[in-house]
Amino acid sequence: MKAAIKDTPIDSEIVNDKIKDLNVQVVGKATIREIKRLVDNIESASGKKFIRMEMGVPGLPPAQVGTDAEIEALQRGVAAIYPDIDGIPILKKEVSLFVKNFLDIDVDPAGCIPTVGSMQGGFASFMTLSRLNEGKDTTLFIDPGFPVHKQQHKVMGLKFESFDVYEFRGEKLRAKLESYFEKGNIHSVLYSNPNNPSWICFTDLELSIIGDLANKYNVVILEDLAYFGMDFRKDYSKPGVPPYQPTVAKYTDNYILLISSSKAFSYAGQRIGMMVISNKLFNTQADDLLRYYTSNQFGRAMIFGTVYSLSSGTAHSAQYALAAILKAANEGKFNFVEEVKEYGEKAKIMKKLFLDNGFRIVYDMDIDKPIADGFYFTIMYPGFDGPDLIEELLYYGISAISLSITGSEHTEGLRACVSLVKRTQFPDLESRLKKFHEHHPIA
Ligand SMILES: Cc1ncc(COP(=O)(O)O)c(C=O)c1O
Repeated sequence: MKAAIKDTPIDSEIVNDKIKDLNVQVVGKATIREIKRLVDNIESASGKKFIRMEMGVPGLPPAQVGTDAEIEALQRGVAAIYPDIDGIPILKKEVSLFVKNFLDIDVDPAGCIPTVGSMQGGFASFMTLSRLNEGKDTTLFIDPGFPVHKQQHKVMGLKFESFDVYEFRGEKLRAKLESYFEKGNIHSVLYSNPNNPSWICFTDLELSIIGDLANKYNVVILEDLAYFGMDFRKDYSKPGVPPYQPTVAKYTDNYILLISSSKAFSYAGQRIGMMVISNKLFNTQADDLLRYYTSNQFGRAMIFGTVYSLSSGTAHSAQYALAAILKAANEGKFNFVEEVKEYGEKAKIMKKLFLDNGFRIVYDMDIDKPIADGFYFTIMYPGFDGPDLIEELLYYGISAISLSITGSEHTEGLRACVSLVKRTQFPDLESRLKKFHEHHPIA
């Protein structure tokens, strides 16, 4: 509690008290949800609104076409009926069309499976892939990444390894990945693209390296497209027209794509995402699966073994919502990228406010270009490590999370999420950052 004697935007006694109530050893290392609760408590005690950058939740209304279709489906009575475990046929068809239109890849509807958020798609993938080949028991994470995927490993008792990609961009990625694959224990690799938290976007060269090595070492690639189409430097919004959202699926047929509806369609609350299994992987037969499943075919084991056990499918009405959203996108009637561009525009302004006040961007470059403006950016301030910076910023009414929980080697950094910050708060953000800079002169 270092800000006690200064004239800070938030009363330091209130911040101190609420930190004490939280009862954690290091505030800056608390989980995202704990920080959220702490900031809620400080806001209600002080009556002052924070610049809230800790949680990655959509800050926009849900796609209307989805809400309308869902209400209509509920009124028709779908709530009474179990949906097919692997998804209703019209949704499976629209997902298959969507990946054709926006990624330019061919996947049969059979391998297009709705899941309870992309989160469940990850859980189901890790569970099934870790049982595909008895000798391969470890996931490799290309970090920094989304901490919940590692938590999923911990609760299932599964093994994982990871490395921070920042020093291994471009051609350097090949040798780094090969050093893990050569050991023979890796069944799959997961990364998000664009990356949460750094907003790194892999280039086609990097995706081709990942794909080549997946083929060479028979490793499955789990491509997490939670921020589908949100590298706003290119326009990926037109169905069936290049450029397409870059994907590893162009370079290997050994993949599962995890496509979230939460950010791209602002549909987080209904917990529906898509798991898209390549035709080859779906039809792969492996007798090692019979240790856990009644079928030795990967796709059947996934659907009738894993997904059935987890939740017996995905909420019926939400499937109609997603089918309608995708249909509108596929027909060019709903430009989902345009809807979320606001995130990139806010990021541009917010980054400048931080940079003008002594902060630096941690993951600053995308190989040879400055990192794009999107849903997240990463910041640091000279002289602070990440957890200390989180704590100190609380006195200035600004909240974020530490990169140290994301597998990043840049433990001095924070992840800032732009979604919940309103443009009307920019003047407050500016004055608070100015005050912070004034109180913490850089030597
Ligand atoms: C990288 C990444 N993957 C997956 C998810 C989870 O998505 P969903 O809400 O579809 O479960 C998120 C959500 O923040 C994310 O950032």
